[in-house]
Amino acid sequence: MFSSLALLGLTAIQGANAWGSLGHETVAYIASHYVETATKNWAQDILDDTSKDYLANVATWADSYRYTSAGKFSAPYHFIDAQDDPPNSCNVDYDRDCTGGKCVVAAIANYTTRVQSNSLSDTQVNYALRFIVHFLGDITQPLHDESYDLGGNDIDVTFNGDDTNLHASWDTSIPEQLIGGYSLSDAQDWANDLIKEIDSGSYESQKASWVSGLDINDAKDSAMAWATDANAFVCSVVAPNGWDGLENAELYPDYYNGVVDTVSLQIAKGGYRLAKWLDAIAAQAASKKVKREAGDVVEVEEDLNGDSLIPARRPLTAIERRRAAIGFGCGDHTH
Ligand SMILES: *[C@@H]1O[C@H](CO)[C@@H](O)[C@H](O)[C@H]1NC(C)=O
Ligand SMILES: [Zn+2]
Repeated sequence: MFSSLALLGLTAIQGANAWGSLGHETVAYIASHYVETATKNWAQDILDDTSKDYLANVATWADSYRYTSAGKFSAPYHFIDAQDDPPNSCNVDYDRDCTGGKCVVAAIANYTTRVQSNSLSDTQVNYALRFIVHFLGDITQPLHDESYDLGGNDIDVTFNGDDTNLHASWDTSIPEQLIGGYSLSDAQDWANDLIKEIDSGSYESQKASWVSGLDINDAKDSAMAWATDANAFVCSVVAPNGWDGLENAELYPDYYNGVVDTVSLQIAKGGYRLAKWLDAIAAQAASKKVKREAGDVVEVEEDLNGDSLIPARRPLTAIERRRAAIGFGCGDHTH
């Protein structure tokens, strides 16, 4: 039922996807490794996929869906437009940067509510889970938490001689240079390496901090913490000398060598957080089900459209007008 939809979406866009397929699928495999068995069963049921690749198989769906007429509305959900001046100032402000209440932070909150719904259709719940798998990846990519030049999409660079842009390099060129491919098995291999680092390597001592304060019932706050964490790398790693030197720069090997560890770190974080996020959602869903079956009153669901997440309207900024004018897409390069 969903495979034909996915196929349709895939023909809509070729090439670079946000974090690229390699990054998103690696996040998904890391999450599949860490989730509880009950979470796996819950997610496989929603996704109607009992394969071991159940999360990886849907990890890039949102990047195809956004190019369909039905999914066009979701294009702004892949990023938040922080307004920075690297290396001196980087920060994320929800009211300022979540344009019209449509951004990755609001989307994570929205779909975290919707995936737990008992009144939405199976398709809508399925889509909600797909969006969560994708957006918990996007939000860890520093240039998805940045407005400058459309998150670096307008900063032309070369990577190992190939014309590209700064955003696409972070999404795709750098991960693929590191791993040497972009197939599902490449993603599984990268995930296995990062899982070792999380369990007993360089990430072991910090993994607890990646999920501290995680609260699915205050999804906006959790997602803001992740956006703020990733955005800080814009000042320290993405543009440590400001934006100026990057235009038309060759990123390989010097720039690449300076940032590749951060790319790996952010992928690992995304996967580990996704596991804990899904565990919390599945556990809450199970406890609501037990209460309902016992005849207890379970709190009424509200705001299935996420409307309360949208702050009051304010005039469009220059950046917002520009985004709107290009329909939120960036040619071949997604943001
Ligand atoms: C929440 O998701 C639904 C379904 O995709 C969408 O129609 C609605 O506009 C979203 N709300 C927000 C605030 O993003
Ligand atoms: Zn995306």
